[in-house]
Amino acid sequence: MLIAVCSLKGSPGVTTLATALGARWPGQESPIVVEADPAGGDLMVRFRLPDTPGLVSLAAAARGRGGSDPNLLTQHTQFLPGGLQVVLGPVGAEQARAALSVLTAGGLSPMRRAANQPGVTVIVDCGRADPDSPAVPIIRSADAMLLVARPHDDELAHVALKVQAAQRWSSRPCFVLVGDGYSTTEVSQAIGIPVMGRIPRDDKGAAVLCGHRSARHRPAKSALGRAAAKVAMNAFAHWHAADTRGPHLRLAGTETLVSTEASPPTAAPTRNGTTP
Ligand SMILES: Nc1ncnc2c1ncn2[C@@H]1O[C@H](COP(=O)(O)OP(=O)(O)OP(=O)(O)O)[C@@H](O)[C@H]1O
Ligand SMILES: [Mg+2]
Repeated sequence: MLIAVCSLKGSPGVTTLATALGARWPGQESPIVVEADPAGGDLMVRFRLPDTPGLVSLAAAARGRGGSDPNLLTQHTQFLPGGLQVVLGPVGAEQARAALSVLTAGGLSPMRRAANQPGVTVIVDCGRADPDSPAVPIIRSADAMLLVARPHDDELAHVALKVQAAQRWSSRPCFVLVGDGYSTTEVSQAIGIPVMGRIPRDDKGAAVLCGHRSARHRPAKSALGRAAAKVAMNAFAHWHAADTRGPHLRLAGTETLVSTEASPPTAAPTRNGTTP
């Protein structure tokens, strides 16, 4: 399974969520997280890791004869403290965009090839998605898209304008809301896209996922990590079942995904939760 995680506005916590989902993903096989943000990666600096292997070495290998090898992706990963396998994006936007252009030029990308293998989950941080982004082909080829947003007026107004384009890239977009603001139901009804879950604002938990706290602070112990585990469980249950059970699915636990098939993706909610 290939999951694209991205934002439509601002920096709501895409990299943090992608990393947290990877760390808390259910199932036997731990996922591979790929930093494919065209604006450049953050994990290399945050965790003080060497710049290779990573997205750039992956692109170089994909250009060569290894392009069709489904194991190519794993050959270019490094490990974060705690054991999460990541393909690190280069810090520079120019390098990142060049690598992404190679990786998405025709045929299946190494991310898609890896994710086509049974039991393999690849979570791709696609950064801010806009129509010119070289990560759009990855979003298009993904099995699902998680749109990260803060549920505030200013951010949701932009999201509402861009969400139609996002729906053209993915038939399975879902929101993950970060921090306080409008309720899950208000957002899903106003924007017209289901909400997969919420992540609380948690500075200490985010610091762990940014490499700013010692290895004994595990993501599993933080509020952010626990919320990410719920989102991961919902995503796992929802998308693994989706092919056989249709769009209205019961999620793991007792929650039901807030689905909004009747509402057009027109506008952000107003402060009282109605659509202007
Ligand atoms: N749930 C959260 N609670 C508190 N702080 C958070 C949370 N999520 C992310 N942060 C912090 O916000 C900052 C930006 O997070 P992150 O890098 O994940 O955002 P992003 O959307 O990937 O940004 P960019 O567009 O720069 O790639 C980081 O300092 C991170 O620690
Ligand atoms: Mg990021």
